[in-house]
Amino acid sequence: MRMDECNNMMKQSVGFLGMGCYIPEKIITNYDLEKMVDTNNEWIVDRTGIKERHIAAPEEATSDLAVKAAKLAIADAGLTAEDIDLVIVATETPDTKFPSTACLVQHEIGATHAAAFDLSAGCSGFVYGSAVASQFIATGLYKHVLVIGAETLSRIMNWQDRNTCVLFGDGAGAAVLGKVDDGYGILSIDLGADGGGGPHLILPAGGSRKPASHETVDACEHSIHMNGNDVFKFAIKIMPKTALRVLEKAGLKKDDIDLLIPHQANVRIIDSAAKRLRLSQDKIMVNVEKYGNTSAASIPIAMCEARTEGRLKKDDNVLLVGFGAGLTWASILVKWHK
Ligand code: UT7
Repeated sequence: MRMDECNNMMKQSVGFLGMGCYIPEKIITNYDLEKMVDTNNEWIVDRTGIKERHIAAPEEATSDLAVKAAKLAIADAGLTAEDIDLVIVATETPDTKFPSTACLVQHEIGATHAAAFDLSAGCSGFVYGSAVASQFIATGLYKHVLVIGAETLSRIMNWQDRNTCVLFGDGAGAAVLGKVDDGYGILSIDLGADGGGGPHLILPAGGSRKPASHETVDACEHSIHMNGNDVFKFAIKIMPKTALRVLEKAGLKKDDIDLLIPHQANVRIIDSAAKRLRLSQDKIMVNVEKYGNTSAASIPIAMCEARTEGRLKKDDNVLLVGFGAGLTWASILVKWHK
């Protein structure tokens, strides 16, 4: 391939062709949690904005949630599974360490021509995955990439730890990325990581550092451990920073944002970012009250709901901002194409 041809391909505009999400049926309210741990509805609502979260049924694993969201996204894009060239599943709760959840999804939906891999970037996973997908499409290697954020965090929850068990929920959101008209789609990307903050949000055991043992089970080390305060401070600092960076890369300003779709972890974190970006409430998508923090699934679920509510319109500048375990952060600025 000649260099100029290669450069032209790199300029290919990439956007979100279709979306879908799946939320498990069972709801656990704050009042249900009051009966399980020393907490109360008022504390949870005041400190987080969360009122309820959905929990996967015992027979539902992450891939089951992912498959449901994926099928909707593919149909929404007007495609079939055979049109998909690559499946990326962003998750911290894979069905198994291996095979990857992406391979399970690839098989289950019949994406027989697709490569598949999982991606671990905590709650930033879907935005990281979309950034990766966009590069495969921009270079011309692939036409359609399915990116899924899916989690069954209820399976790695210590239901006796009030510091964490009130925060998280299960769910899946998916999107098909592909070519869009010039000038539309992803305008800029900002990805980052600070591995030094890793211990603040961690599943300590079950990996090569600390394989599963009776001791690790007794010490509850197969569940989420989090220094909430440290993650909170990180989040309120990094969200406006990465948002401003991605705007600057696209040559846009705060006022150009039509809709911010942030990671849904805590309404206080979202409010703080919105304040720093001088965004009014009507320019922010918030649904944390219904689902809690669904990690990698939170942004694609919020995207789906924003679209259903008629809040994604052609020519809108839509800003996706995630942060999470790693510690990681990720922003994508999109000019909505349809
Ligand atoms: O997706 C990325 C992952 N995670 C996050 O984004 C979470 C980021 N962090 C946060 O959202 C907040 O730090 C939390 C919601 C986790 C905690 O809120 P906070 O305002 O930072 O509270 P805190 O940790 O400073 O705790 C304040 C008090 C403590 O009591 P003492 O020590 O002051 O007596 C906690 O023990 O609240 C207590 N507390 C609770 N009380 C009732 C902690 N959890 C609960 C609870 N119910 N569930």
